[in-house]
Amino acid sequence: MSTVSLHKQGRIGVIAVDHPPVNAISQAVREGIITQINAANADGHIAAIVLIAKGRTFMAGADITEFGKAPKSPGFPQVINALEQSHKPVIAAIHGTALGGGLELALACHFRIAHEGAKLGLPEVTLGIIPGAQGTQRLPRLVGLPLALEMIVSGKPITAPKAHQAGLVDDLVKGDADALPRAAIAYADKIITDGTAPRRLSQMEVPQNGSEADLLAKARADATRKMRGVLAPQKAIDALEAALTLPFEDGAAKERAILGACMASPQSKALQHAFFAERKAARLPKHAQNATPRPFNQIGIIGGGTMGCGIALACLGAGLYVTMIERDADALKRAQNSIHKSLDEILARGRIDKAAHTTQGALFSITTDMAALSEADIIIEAVFEKMEVKKSIFRDLDKVAKKGAILATNTSYLNVDDIASVTGRPADILGLHFFSPANIMKLLEVVEAKKTAPDVLATAMVLAKKIRKIAVIARVCHGFIGNRMLEGYLREAGLLMLEGATPQQIDKAIRDFGYPMGPLQMIDMAGMDIGYMLRKQFPASRFDPNAYRVMNRLVEMDRKGQKTGAGIYRYEAGNRTPLPDPAVDKITEEEAQKAGITRRTISDEEIVDRCILSLVNEGARLLEDRIAMRASDIDVTYLYGYGFPRWRGGPMFYASQRGLDKICDRIKQFGETVGTRWWTPAPLLQKLAQEGKTFTDFDAE
Ligand code: 3HC
Ligand code: NAI
Repeated sequence: MSTVSLHKQGRIGVIAVDHPPVNAISQAVREGIITQINAANADGHIAAIVLIAKGRTFMAGADITEFGKAPKSPGFPQVINALEQSHKPVIAAIHGTALGGGLELALACHFRIAHEGAKLGLPEVTLGIIPGAQGTQRLPRLVGLPLALEMIVSGKPITAPKAHQAGLVDDLVKGDADALPRAAIAYADKIITDGTAPRRLSQMEVPQNGSEADLLAKARADATRKMRGVLAPQKAIDALEAALTLPFEDGAAKERAILGACMASPQSKALQHAFFAERKAARLPKHAQNATPRPFNQIGIIGGGTMGCGIALACLGAGLYVTMIERDADALKRAQNSIHKSLDEILARGRIDKAAHTTQGALFSITTDMAALSEADIIIEAVFEKMEVKKSIFRDLDKVAKKGAILATNTSYLNVDDIASVTGRPADILGLHFFSPANIMKLLEVVEAKKTAPDVLATAMVLAKKIRKIAVIARVCHGFIGNRMLEGYLREAGLLMLEGATPQQIDKAIRDFGYPMGPLQMIDMAGMDIGYMLRKQFPASRFDPNAYRVMNRLVEMDRKGQKTGAGIYRYEAGNRTPLPDPAVDKITEEEAQKAGITRRTISDEEIVDRCILSLVNEGARLLEDRIAMRASDIDVTYLYGYGFPRWRGGPMFYASQRGLDKICDRIKQFGETVGTRWWTPAPLLQKLAQEGKTFTDFDAE
């Protein structure tokens, strides 16, 4: 079967693209479309042409794997040209997703029809580039500047009905999968019968009403505010401006030049890395690749606190039955109210409709009787972070859970092998470490314990996909991937405070690096008491004796963070804005004196390097110890669980991009100035640096 075929249906030529899995527009697709368009135009029996794609989706864009490589002919402009210049009308028939270059090809066609479930978008900015196949020039000509700005600057696709309303598609098709090809033929027939001439968008003008300059200025200001540090949205606005001010050909040339510059930028490399890293993370390790996932539709959740309720909402949203267990009647009532209140809020915000609200409510049940879990397929424990409590739960579960049920713990730090050891079925046990709020946060660390069976791991990955999480597989160690690395990041923030940086300076430096919030703001938001209690559970030797001096004192003064109205910052009633507090500065000075630390002026560069390189160095250790399978998994963990700026690709990619030799030198420098206990390059980092390699090379080996 060829990648692009042409067959005739009466007087209509149907060009079908068949390039699984997503019909990415590779060289073969580009060449095939041009060949078949020419063939259809040369065929005297064909009066109109339908461009359609096979499989699960219309074309999902340029083939991203070709980026950064030598360009292969024919290029996009040639395909676009062949479609638009066809003297016979060409109708694009869209199902699934028409994204990026896919939508641009559809825009080069003369008409577009779409299945009602389809989505259409230009997501290029999410890859650090702009639409480069004249999408920035054609889209505003068809739908006007406001919608073109919305779609291109956000990168978010719109639904087919919205596209229809805006004139982006000419007709909507209802019905099953076969309805689209049938409707496309009928549409083409009508075009022929009516004698409708091809409509070439390049020959149209962008509709204007005088508000364009304001719209562009507002879009630039919004993009600066909402997408701090990200270049592509600004560049996309420049290209859209060209559509308003230049003739089509000149605008298209400008778009192409901007695309070239974006493509060469470190940001686009980082964003493309993030795209593939996310998909690689879903791949099982070799020993589990042939495992058959266990079927599931009933989830048990033990503990209806912050995490249990969030996990329950994520499962309910995916149509799974949830049975929750709480320890007594009061806690049960609280958890029940929390679930129903959250469902009401989700309904009020329009994220689900009334029918889904009713269904999800009906899928949920709660009891204090553990025996209710006897039919559950997957049981997730989310009770207090205490080994003895967890072990006791797992002993009970071993008695009530059915054979083959998967038993998971949501522990943040505890040893999953130890928890598994109290049961007679350690192969069925693993960690499922959700992030708070668990119904919103995308990351799920799937923790493979020593005895976890391959099919249990495979099932966890299916569950993750079903509840729309991005899963990363980790092995057992204190804090797994994310929290283990976070220790160093927070330690450095605590030490930097003591050494002379103010909380405001530290948080601002990290925000300027691209995080949505700094480490100290984050600690205040999460509540400092959590870390305080955790540190008491583990040997003091794990921690730097100075890093938490200030935080410990604040907790002991009942300054736990936002929830008590004061922490590292102070807060005014009803307001979450962190305000500097001289009282904290005084405590910091006192603690620095006690620790014998002479305070000094610290640069923002040092703040960023100490916080971020502590992540990188620990990440290298996790890789070497095989706690993480790939450096890109560590990146995904930080992008989806900790707010690391996506346009920097994640900590490991960031380090690779800066050069591991430079990273190693900087770590050694800190070893000389602030001590080697934390600042000795990890052996793997040293080795890769010496060999002139990157973490990406390590993943590829
Ligand atoms: N190029 C190459 N490979 C692609 C691809 C693309 N555009 N889009 C997806 N793939 C690959 C994925 O890497 C994955 O490979 P794997 O199985 O080996 O991991 C496979 O196709 C399936 O992808 P998903 O797992 O993402 O499948 P989903 O069904 O979950 O999602 C999708 C489908 C919504 C189409 C999603 O893949 C997607 O968003 N793709 C990217 C779309 C995009 O960004 N397009 C713009 C490209 S840039 C462009 O067009 C430039 C132009 O202006 C010139
Ligand atoms: P929480 O204190 O909000 O909730 C714990 C719940 O468990 C309470 O409702 C309690 O009544 C219930 N519980 C205690 N013993 C029980 C028993 N024997 N049977 C049934 N229910 C019982 O705690 P939270 O924050 O939800 O944390 C739960 C687990 O999730 C911990 O292991 C924690 O480390 C982990 N976690 C927490 C995160 C967070 O940000 N809060 C993030 C990721 C993991």
